Amino acid sequence: MTFKKNPIILGIETSCDETAAAVFRGPTLLSHIAASQIVHQAYGGVVPEYASREHEKLLAPVVENTMTQAAINWPDVDAIAVTQGPGLAGSLLVGLSYAKGIAIGLNRPLLGVNHIEGHIFANFIGQSELPVPFLCLLVSGGHTQLIHVEDIHQYRLIGQTRDDAAGEAFDKVGRMLGIGYPGGPLIDQLAKSGNPNFEHFPRSKFDGSYDFSFSGLKTAVLYYVQKQTGAFINDHLADIAASFQQAVVEVLVNRAFEAAADLKLDKLVLAGGVAANTALRRLAGQRASQTGITIFQPDLRYCTDNAAMIAYMGYWKYRHEQTQSLSIPAFPNLKLSFGN
Ligand code: KG4
Ligand code: ZN
Repeated sequence: MTFKKNPIILGIETSCDETAAAVFRGPTLLSHIAASQIVHQAYGGVVPEYASREHEKLLAPVVENTMTQAAINWPDVDAIAVTQGPGLAGSLLVGLSYAKGIAIGLNRPLLGVNHIEGHIFANFIGQSELPVPFLCLLVSGGHTQLIHVEDIHQYRLIGQTRDDAAGEAFDKVGRMLGIGYPGGPLIDQLAKSGNPNFEHFPRSKFDGSYDFSFSGLKTAVLYYVQKQTGAFINDHLADIAASFQQAVVEVLVNRAFEAAADLKLDKLVLAGGVAANTALRRLAGQRASQTGITIFQPDLRYCTDNAAMIAYMGYWKYRHEQTQSLSIPAFPNLKLSFGN
């Protein structure tokens, strides 16, 4: 097969509760659509069985609308990129089976994408060069990791959470405060009118390690909430949200800049759903200008799950001629493979 310089790539993402598609020409985004599944809100978290069923309903129309918006016809598609993992098994299978169907129907190659790599490189959508090496702070619902990215597919794990992921802590505290799900964006919004110094919640630190821990912080918020009256919590909801958020953000930013300096890396890349957080972006931006480290923050549209990042990773796989067999399985526990 001949590999084109600027292939048309259709990307599909169904790893959790966003049903998403995107179309690229080379590194350039032509269109993307993400349909958020609202069915889960009533349950305070993602219900895996409902997620798969919603993907089944939504995926075909989402893909067709994305193709129409991009003004691309099926025969023009050169390859299909799809999230292979990590994620919910049933949800992944819906996207993967659909992508395989298109690949067979059009006789085009399949590109299986690691969702985590998608998050990391979402920062560079539109670019045909990558500013490697850099340090990445990956903060999502399932991950909190500091990764030394030497190149695409060449990673070293520098530090990670020992318990909850940052996004998970946001979601759990959101539930404790009774503000709904997902807690991350809701706390972010609420915190804008709150005082981040209202209450000092604990910041974790491990000597000689860049690891994180958020379970102590989460428990501290729980005890604090249990100690107060309902009226007090209601009156100070924004202050408590802002104080909790400040504790998370300070730890993330301190550890990331410390690691970047120690490793002599002059670029720090934020990635994942929590990278959308206003306070995190602000503090990381301030620290970057103080230290001279260049900060990369993904466009807000590409922080949470989306298919643009999957199609863009597909572009890099295609460029490296890494097409895959149609028999590839879904990998719910897929990890980045670290060279250290
Ligand atoms: O990357 P993502 O969409 O899904 C995973 O791959 O996990 O991340 C979702 C996580 C959720 O925990 C959500 O609460 C959090 O990202 N999140 C935020 C914000 N937007 C999403 N956390 C804090 N502030 C936000 N603005
Ligand atoms: Zn994600």
